[in-house]
Amino acid sequence: VQPLRIALAGLGTVGAGVIRLLDTNASLIAARAGRPIEVVAVCARDRSKDRGVDLSRYIWEDDMTALAARDDVDVVVELVGGSDGSALTLARRALGNGRGLVTANKAMMAHHGMELAAAAEEARVALKFEAAVAGGIPVIKGLREGAAANAVLRIYGILNGTCNYILSTMEDTGRDFGDVLKEAQALGYAEADPTFDIEGVDAAHKLALLASIAFDSRVDFSAMEVEGISRIRAADIAQAAALGYVIRLIGLADCDGGLFQRVQPCLVPRDHPLASVDGPTNAVVLEGNFCGRLLFQGAGAGDGPTASAVVADLIDIARGDAGPPFSMPVAALQPLERAGSGHRLAR
Ligand code: HSE
Repeated sequence: VQPLRIALAGLGTVGAGVIRLLDTNASLIAARAGRPIEVVAVCARDRSKDRGVDLSRYIWEDDMTALAARDDVDVVVELVGGSDGSALTLARRALGNGRGLVTANKAMMAHHGMELAAAAEEARVALKFEAAVAGGIPVIKGLREGAAANAVLRIYGILNGTCNYILSTMEDTGRDFGDVLKEAQALGYAEADPTFDIEGVDAAHKLALLASIAFDSRVDFSAMEVEGISRIRAADIAQAAALGYVIRLIGLADCDGGLFQRVQPCLVPRDHPLASVDGPTNAVVLEGNFCGRLLFQGAGAGDGPTASAVVADLIDIARGDAGPPFSMPVAALQPLERAGSGHRLAR
């Protein structure tokens, strides 16, 4: 059997996690995928850094885009991050050269997902991005595959672990925002630029992808309304608590004629399932017209969970099971039109 040969761009926490996972679970992955998944080549900024994994088995490319041109690579795994720059160049090259692409890059997919999906469809290769939304939680699979037969009524949830850690820690300890943010950064939950977390942008990137899949619409990040948590004070949390609520940063998309996509701090009643989601956890509620309400909850970041989503996508590709990147081919997705305070699907 021909293995699925991959090139790995970016060897941070998640990249090293992918290598560890492919090593640790190699035989069960090969059995389930029907063939082994083998890393051929890697590229990262710093060659000498110790990542706790043995890289001597792989070809080291100094030029990242060269990964996309290798004849011995079937799929490029992009774990570099950033909406533009080298990640986007690599993604375009990979698809343009007929290589599959697996990415954890929510910013790139939120801004360029339609272009990349169209390129993947044209080249008849896979583009998969489960790891871009809610880390280890298979929420894209749940929505795109599990709920495939449903009209989705609404999708909402906690999509940023950093904000959830900050809000739930402020709630438990009465501490102030800035203090807890520093702790979240030290624990490694935050993005390189933490304003993306606390201003709701990271959650909005993820919600834009979920909304597209849920409502068969083109990803339109510019249609997103976003408010973060940087103005929430300990006193707000105490007041909410006195009224029986907790504050959570919620991303919500619903489609009642018009498509609303909004990220904002919300008052959540204490008996709602999202109110008990604490720490750097993500949770997504999906409401379908036949499946009813589904709740997905788990680690939204971190090496093991995110690597688990990346490798699940690779297993799909190895099985020949990829399908279109979004809910249907890009040309069939509905565009959004601005209408009043929301956006309408141009049906
Ligand atoms: N900074 C992100 C979060 C990491 O806090 O959820 C995963 O996207």
